[in-house]
Amino acid sequence: MTAPFPTAESDLRSRLERELGESYAIQRELGGGGSAKVFLAIERALDRPVVLKVLAPEATVGVDGERFRREILIAARLQHPHLVPLLQAGTVNAEAGDRAMRWFSMPYVEGQTLREQLHRRERFGLADGMRLLRELASALMYAHARGIVHRDIKPENILFSGDAAMIADFGVAKALDDASDGALKSGKRVTTVSMTLGTPAYMSPEQINRAPMVDHKADLYAFGCLAYELFAGAPPLERESLRATMAAQVQDPPPPLRDVRPDLPEALTSVIMRCLHKDPLQRPHSASVIVKVIDELQTGTANDGTANSGTAHSETANRESLGAGSLHNRSPEAGSRSGDRAAAREPITTYVVPLLVVVAVVAAAIWWVFLR
Ligand SMILES: Nc1ncnc2c1ncn2[C@@H]1O[C@H](COP(=O)(O)OP(=O)(O)O)[C@@H](O)[C@H]1O
Ligand SMILES: [Mg+2]
Repeated sequence: MTAPFPTAESDLRSRLERELGESYAIQRELGGGGSAKVFLAIERALDRPVVLKVLAPEATVGVDGERFRREILIAARLQHPHLVPLLQAGTVNAEAGDRAMRWFSMPYVEGQTLREQLHRRERFGLADGMRLLRELASALMYAHARGIVHRDIKPENILFSGDAAMIADFGVAKALDDASDGALKSGKRVTTVSMTLGTPAYMSPEQINRAPMVDHKADLYAFGCLAYELFAGAPPLERESLRATMAAQVQDPPPPLRDVRPDLPEALTSVIMRCLHKDPLQRPHSASVIVKVIDELQTGTANDGTANSGTAHSETANRESLGAGSLHNRSPEAGSRSGDRAAAREPITTYVVPLLVVVAVVAAAIWWVFLR
């Protein structure tokens, strides 16, 4: 198998500088693996930082350039507060022995990725977890309604801009797959962006089985794995090797989230578990179902048979009123919250005592002046 990026690191960079240098000043490499490389660059025209993502030639073998461009144009129309938009797309021309490479640009999102957040804090509490999941589900709902699926939802593709979560790379995997001439299925192309090694922990059974129809239900499955990980600390079916994880996604039942996190409302654990069905038809029909469950829990109207729904609302309210919504410097769950509620009741006692003192002083003055 040829290396995905046949050009050496420095050659790749100088090739980009030669081809795109007029429009972009390339600053440094941000990351990327087998199927793409990501660079921080300054877009000269607007003097703003952007991210240039260059797809490995191997990931685009057999991809029809014109179709890819059309598909990318569809993805570029997405506009949603929780989606990282596409800005530009193009091709780095083939030259002396090196194949052409597709690239696109997007805004540089400065915050951490969800993967980095998970490394730092392991498990999310209810209020922050629900807030994040609602943002992601609303973005999925929006894109899916426009016929665009992601196919690579995972913590690495969730970026934080301040407090808000944004999904990166929407539509790119689908654009590649749809513009493919069947190279993937015939075995000429071994990876797609959506099949980068290292992400089977979020891959739906139908993607692993290379089913001919992979639709928005695959995103709901990946969303379920990610939601499970937020609360449990690990995705539901992660095993010691990539191969074993892929087998587990296809065969093994996910352990009930409720067993790991009995403190969560049943309505929430149950919608997450429904996303994890092996059969796409058994999953929620749309991300709107998830948004609705979370909205009901946040307003305390979910009929989940536990007292948690009310708690969810008051936790969110407290977090917002304290201005402590930041995922970055959050205090441990609930710890200070009963104190906050006690503080809210305090004014009754603090007003009554001074009032009594004032009444006593006025009464004494009246007695002194008029009655003595
Ligand atoms: N728009 C962006 N803004 C800031 N950082 C980004 C952006 N896109 C990608 N990155 C960073 O580059 C890394 C590599 O991205 P990518 O090639 O998509 O691989 P992966 O998503 O598998 O990590 C990401 O993990 C992230 O840290
Ligand atoms: Mg990515």
